Amino acid sequence: MKQITLFETEEKNVKVSKSLKELPFKRVRDEYFDFKDTPASTGIYGIHPYPAMFHFLVVREIIKNFSKEGDYLLDPFMGSGVVAGESLISGRNFVGYDINPLAVLISKVRTTPLQFNMLFETLEHILKTFRCQKPEDVEFPNVHYWFDEDVIKNLSKLRQVVFNIERSEVGDFFKVVFSETVRRVSRARYEEFKLVRRKDNNVPDVIKTFREVSLKNIGLLTDFYSKFTPRNVFLKLEERNIMDGIPLEDNFIDLVITSPPYGDSKTTVAYGQFSRLSLRWLGLEENVDRASLGAKPKDVHSGLPSNILYKYIEEIASKDERRAKEVFSFYADLYACIQIIAKKVKEKGFVCFVVGNRRVKGFELPTDKISADFFESQGFEHQKTIVRTISNKRMPVKNSPSNIRGENDFTMRYEYIVILRKKGSLI
Ligand SMILES: C[S@@+](CC[C@H](N)C(=O)[O-])C[C@H]1O[C@@H](n2cnc3c(N)ncnc32)[C@H](O)[C@@H]1O
Repeated sequence: MKQITLFETEEKNVKVSKSLKELPFKRVRDEYFDFKDTPASTGIYGIHPYPAMFHFLVVREIIKNFSKEGDYLLDPFMGSGVVAGESLISGRNFVGYDINPLAVLISKVRTTPLQFNMLFETLEHILKTFRCQKPEDVEFPNVHYWFDEDVIKNLSKLRQVVFNIERSEVGDFFKVVFSETVRRVSRARYEEFKLVRRKDNNVPDVIKTFREVSLKNIGLLTDFYSKFTPRNVFLKLEERNIMDGIPLEDNFIDLVITSPPYGDSKTTVAYGQFSRLSLRWLGLEENVDRASLGAKPKDVHSGLPSNILYKYIEEIASKDERRAKEVFSFYADLYACIQIIAKKVKEKGFVCFVVGNRRVKGFELPTDKISADFFESQGFEHQKTIVRTISNKRMPVKNSPSNIRGENDFTMRYEYIVILRKKGSLI
């Protein structure tokens, strides 16, 4: 295969927009990658919302430019499985991990083509059986705060029917519909990914919502795979905390496309909180925010290979030492993950590491540059960083960097695609 970089304009696959501008840290602003006119939630990527989801067209472009058919792709922070979906339709093998069981379930459903008639008949069966079902007791913390009594009864009836579906792929499909239904009929605000109680009383009807979501997802799944034929590839999607290691041979992966959490879950995206109500209803363990990057505090020490990181840690510490320690803990975990990921990549293989640069205490932390430094310490060469806007992403444009309610700061309007290549004997 001929490997190309995104910046060799003579290559016919490569598009470089006119507004491309040179910036520091090998950054290149490229509007071509904004894909503003296509929502990220198109096709199978409209099955169940997920925070900070990749834009599939970005992933498609990266796959086209940095891999060939039959290659092995890895996404260690797989989320809702966008890289998995794009691997399946482009003939790339794929291995993905996520600590969040809901993410793994959504990824599996998005990458399992099923027949329209079979799904439709199962839906009819669910709706019929639901009527004869008796509600069960449902107990988990705050269930009565987040759900009205009649909603709890109906969800419990629905859950029994969905859990009794025999074929596991079909059962998983309807578990994802059920999870989306749980989000819509709860008292939590649907558009938020933190759990915030909504003010209005317009809770939609459970069974009507389940039917609507089912029809939407059946349409999205079957339509997508009628347009894009799934290829005969190896797909492995697994629940795993990658800080515990990645169970693959070293030097095995051709291309990593991944997007780690953008910061600790307290002040950025709380994947656990986003998934909590669904996971409780699905009976799945929820340990996401407690085990995610930066969750365990660490003292600032000098072992991380990024000078610029220490410059920012010092600046933040001059305003707030505790916050500086929290920020450092996140980057220490990120470095640990990068060490684990780096080993799995083949010589001359690529990593496309997609990050957002958040603000803390008024400082914009250059996570793109810090990640590039971390990878360079592991035998990689930083090639370029493509800067795109994230208008299509399910992301906050504001956060609370001081962690004080009402004190917001603009954050993460741009996304940085850090492109790195593992050095080999021929480079
Ligand atoms: C930015 S999101 C990835 C979104 C994904 N690119 C998509 O398209 O949906 C980061 C993901 O990392 C996961 N994560 C956080 N800490 C992890 C860890 N230690 N091991 C594995 N996954 C982790 C979160 O659950 C979350 O799904």
